[in-house]
Amino acid sequence: MKKYIIGNWKMNQSLDEITHFLKAITSHTPSEQVEIGISPQLIHLHHCLKNSPHFLNIGSQNCSQYLQGAYTGEVSPQALKELGTHFTLVGHSERRTLYGETNKEIALKTITALKTGLKVILCIGETLEQRESNQTLHVIKEQIDFLKNIPHTHNLLIAYEPVWAIGTGLSATANQAQEVHQFIRKTLSEFWEKSLASQTPLLYGGSVKPDNIKELMTQGDINGALVGGASLKAESFIKLYDSF
Ligand code: PGA
Repeated sequence: MKKYIIGNWKMNQSLDEITHFLKAITSHTPSEQVEIGISPQLIHLHHCLKNSPHFLNIGSQNCSQYLQGAYTGEVSPQALKELGTHFTLVGHSERRTLYGETNKEIALKTITALKTGLKVILCIGETLEQRESNQTLHVIKEQIDFLKNIPHTHNLLIAYEPVWAIGTGLSATANQAQEVHQFIRKTLSEFWEKSLASQTPLLYGGSVKPDNIKELMTQGDINGALVGGASLKAESFIKLYDSF
């Protein structure tokens, strides 16, 4: 399977910084084994789509669970698709913890976005408290359980991001990450035919940096990384995808 290196820019990057980033990336084609992408703020999506090299996928950080209607301030996955957006993140832990998104809403967002033909990176992960009380696998199961009701699709990717590792500099060890990825893979193969479940890309996220990415990627069920801080500067992002 290919490796995926996806940057989550969150509410960062000015237009000037984006211009510098895109210019630097343009001369650094990734190897054929790697798919790369970034998700800028919504307001910068169009600019990024227009000015990015063809090998850089551009995604949204969120989308509505509805296709259209009276939902002030929301953005339809249909509109994202029309604009040419390649993918959307759904269920990032900051959406869950800061904006109260529930598993049910996240399931609806995932299903609606997939219907439009967008690729979806479904983000899941446990808090420190849940890990310390041995709830990790239970929490993960609950977060992906809705997938048993939808057919397998190549447009779905899953990012395991332990909440305690996001933006803290405290990455999960390669073994900790692999243990959860293996569990996700096993759970998917209970929902879908095994050969299909094995094709769903599973990304790890949480303090991934150029100096720890290699070890994480040697694990059997880790197919890529969702990267926040280390994806903001082109130099560091290039190092991440040049390591393959
Ligand atoms: P981080 O963020 O790499 O800065 O820990 C990851 C994420 O939030 O997706």
